[in-house]
Amino acid sequence: MIGTGYVGLVTGACFAEIGHSVVCMDKDKGKIDRLNNGEIPIFEPGLEELVAHNKSIGKIRFIDNFDDFDENIPDFVFLAVGTPSHKLTGQADLSYLFIAAEEAAKKVSSLKGDGFTVFVTKSTVPVGTSRKVREVIGKHLSADRFAVASNPEFLREGAAIEDFMKPDRIVVGSDSEEARRMLEKMYRPLTRQGHPLVVTSTVATAELIKYAANAFLATKITFINELSRLCEKVDARVDELSLGIGLDDRIGDKFLNPGPGYGGSCLPKDTLALIRTAVDFDSPLEIVETVVRANDRHKHLMVQKIRKAAGGSIDAKRIGILGLAFKAHTDDVRDSPALTIIPGLEQAGASIVAFDPEGIDQARESLPHCEFADSAEQVFDNVDLVVLVTEWPEFKTLDWSNLYKAMRNPVIVDLRNVLPHEELREIGFTCHTTGGYIGA
Ligand SMILES: NC(=O)c1ccc[n+]([C@@H]2O[C@H](COP(=O)([O-])OP(=O)(O)OC[C@H]3O[C@@H](n4cnc5c(N)ncnc54)[C@H](O)[C@@H]3O)[C@@H](O)[C@H]2O)c1
Repeated sequence: MIGTGYVGLVTGACFAEIGHSVVCMDKDKGKIDRLNNGEIPIFEPGLEELVAHNKSIGKIRFIDNFDDFDENIPDFVFLAVGTPSHKLTGQADLSYLFIAAEEAAKKVSSLKGDGFTVFVTKSTVPVGTSRKVREVIGKHLSADRFAVASNPEFLREGAAIEDFMKPDRIVVGSDSEEARRMLEKMYRPLTRQGHPLVVTSTVATAELIKYAANAFLATKITFINELSRLCEKVDARVDELSLGIGLDDRIGDKFLNPGPGYGGSCLPKDTLALIRTAVDFDSPLEIVETVVRANDRHKHLMVQKIRKAAGGSIDAKRIGILGLAFKAHTDDVRDSPALTIIPGLEQAGASIVAFDPEGIDQARESLPHCEFADSAEQVFDNVDLVVLVTEWPEFKTLDWSNLYKAMRNPVIVDLRNVLPHEELREIGFTCHTTGGYIGA
């Protein structure tokens, strides 16, 4: 496994758990040292136990350079390095992937014997990338010694292990029949339990499936967010609207909860990369282009919503923020709505105190003016307003009566519609929800 970040570490640990022998390589020596010392560099429920167990039975080990790889020729090399989007063009930066592929190919060519290795791209990459990976590897290995494949990753941070062990579907694609056969065998412990494997006959199809899935999810989220704003204007209730459309199984009830906009390490970058690919092939995706614009606008409009809840001006006001991660159960703050909302509030003159159960360290650098609290409760101390940005379950069960007394003004803006609003109103809070939601 080349790259031991979110995807590499979770996938590596899960492959070990279903019986394979895994070596995880990452250039980040600090990360590997921590893993070798029994620490887990990311927050992911269940991962620590999984890694510890498989390490103790010798199924997984961690190295920070290829010199420490002294096993036989591997059946698979999974490439799980980052593919961030270029700030200006939106294009996926594939430099890490090509370097990783080249270094891995060199290593495999230096090992004794003539095994056959499938180089599998797990990173999310634009259509056509695996073909280029094949060229890179072909400089070091003869064509009969390797094949390339795509096996896009669909894990959700916070539920990553369950997503691996009980996937809706596994997608693998390769132009090589041998590679397809080997991948089918590798995933047999999961397919045997009834989890579907979609085998695509071209690499390009598997690559495109990943982007199409994420673009669709981004569209669904953005759709309900826009409708939630309309609900507020026309005296409609977005929760009832979601129920009313979601029970139609052509639509489905998932991803229909309104919020402050999508973020994270995948949807923002994958939508941009897909748009870029589509433009390059002269087949623009106008819906996805609009979704990206609408999501960005929606995040900015949250600042206006908060300002309105504060009575029109937030100048010199102190505002508490609950949640920095882009969603609950992760420490990932990449492109999180909080990173748009907080600077927006600061620009309008507010000072911010924020708390997140896992994401504070990651957010610190992007929020140089923000004060960070040690607990959710501290966020309420002497503030004029509290905004719930991320739906962490622990935010739902606070000691509201005490917090009511701690606030300068007992005003709450719930951007996720998860708080017990009836109870809050009874205590005396002024509650602002999303999309006309009244609350339970
Ligand atoms: N995080 C997710 O939820 C998720 C889900 C599905 C797909 N993906 C995709 O998977 C890929 C990896 O994402 P991530 O979140 O795990 O990224 P990450 O940044 O957490 O991890 C990437 C790791 O690769 C390492 N790396 C880079 N170059 C290397 C090299 N040459 N050799 C060894 N290690 C190297 C980095 O040090 C880093 O630890 C991306 O393409 C991403 O889009 C991510």
